[in-house]
Amino acid sequence: MKVQEIKGEEGKRRSTNNGELDRVLGGGLVPGSLILVGGEPGIGKSTLMLQIALQMKDFKILYVTGEESAQQIKMRADRIGIKNLDCFILTETSTSIILQHIGEMKPGLVIIDSIQTLQTEIIDSSAGSISQIRECAAEMQRYAKTSATPVILIGHITKDGSLAGPKILEHMVDTVLQFEGDRNYGYRVLRAVKNRFGPASELGIYEMHDKGLREVKNPSELLISQRDEEVSGVAIAASMEGLRPMLIEIQALVSSAAYGTPQRSTTGFDVRRLNMLLAVLEKRSGFRLALKDVFLNIAGGLRVDDPAIDLAIVAAILSSNADISIDQKTCFAAEVGLSGEIRAVSRVEQRVAEAEKLGFERVFVSKYNKKALDQKKFQIRLAFAGNVAEVVKGIFG
Ligand code: TYD
Ligand code: MG
Repeated sequence: MKVQEIKGEEGKRRSTNNGELDRVLGGGLVPGSLILVGGEPGIGKSTLMLQIALQMKDFKILYVTGEESAQQIKMRADRIGIKNLDCFILTETSTSIILQHIGEMKPGLVIIDSIQTLQTEIIDSSAGSISQIRECAAEMQRYAKTSATPVILIGHITKDGSLAGPKILEHMVDTVLQFEGDRNYGYRVLRAVKNRFGPASELGIYEMHDKGLREVKNPSELLISQRDEEVSGVAIAASMEGLRPMLIEIQALVSSAAYGTPQRSTTGFDVRRLNMLLAVLEKRSGFRLALKDVFLNIAGGLRVDDPAIDLAIVAAILSSNADISIDQKTCFAAEVGLSGEIRAVSRVEQRVAEAEKLGFERVFVSKYNKKALDQKKFQIRLAFAGNVAEVVKGIFG
């Protein structure tokens, strides 16, 4: 076929009526796509998907569950509190019976909770085994492609992602979404790990409350803790998660190691990267941190790998080390290189604009980002720095 003559599916995306999910999908559900939503047990996969089933409009949705009874689903639906006459529940695990129901009902979206409970007669082994999972997913894929109906498969994964199941499906499905978060915090992050139909770096943020998952449309306001007095060890990073700018609070605690080997521990940040930054501070900037314990925390339980938060991390560490607080109206958007240089970051204008929007008065950026920034556009003061020493001078005087 000539590529020109093939009809595009782009225009036919369907909104899920859930802005965060639409964003992560790259603009809604693509007809005929097979989507895997993975996550640890208890993180909220069933809640999110039932909510989607209740929120969507204009066509029938079939929610198939092999995990819970219809009464349990009903209780959850009551809790979520959305009424939708087009949302149907089927408690069934046999793929042939499920496909029979689907054939009669012709839903606009099918949700399977979970792929591990499905069973096909073609294969002898028990539900949840690798061959069962693979064959059941293949049957769902065939159905999705031939009927142009989107199908969402829920899959459990354990902390190390080892449980047979979702991993072996990743290459079969069009989109893999991971639902994660720390159970101690209310936040949940939906992340596209693979997406044939959109960017694979988008994040959706939710908050679990008593009526299901609330969309967090302005994450910055939640991720920065409001406090009246200034405390040391806190710095704000102007980060990007996918295409969305987000201000994130970094908390560091530096103290003299009580016993021999100093401890380095992090939540939400790569500990090796922390060690690298500490080595840079020690070697290039002359800070004596080798004998200190360093604890680092990203507020809200978020996991971040944007290198542009380096400078905020360095600032938080130095602030805790000196026990001097950083002005609350200051934030940071730069990477720190191995020689202690402050490096330019991508999308710096968006980061600065978000900081300004949230009322920050000064943002530290790399001097190498000067060209990318139209200074006339901003009210916020741009502090350009070339190395860590200049930043230290700027924040502590
Ligand atoms: P669940 O969606 O069952 O998780 P999964 O399908 O990933 O295993 O629910 C996760 C948790 O969310 C459960 O402990 C109860 C809690 N929850 C709320 O806090 N508020 C709510 O409105 C609902 C429906 C659940
Ligand atoms: Mg569940």
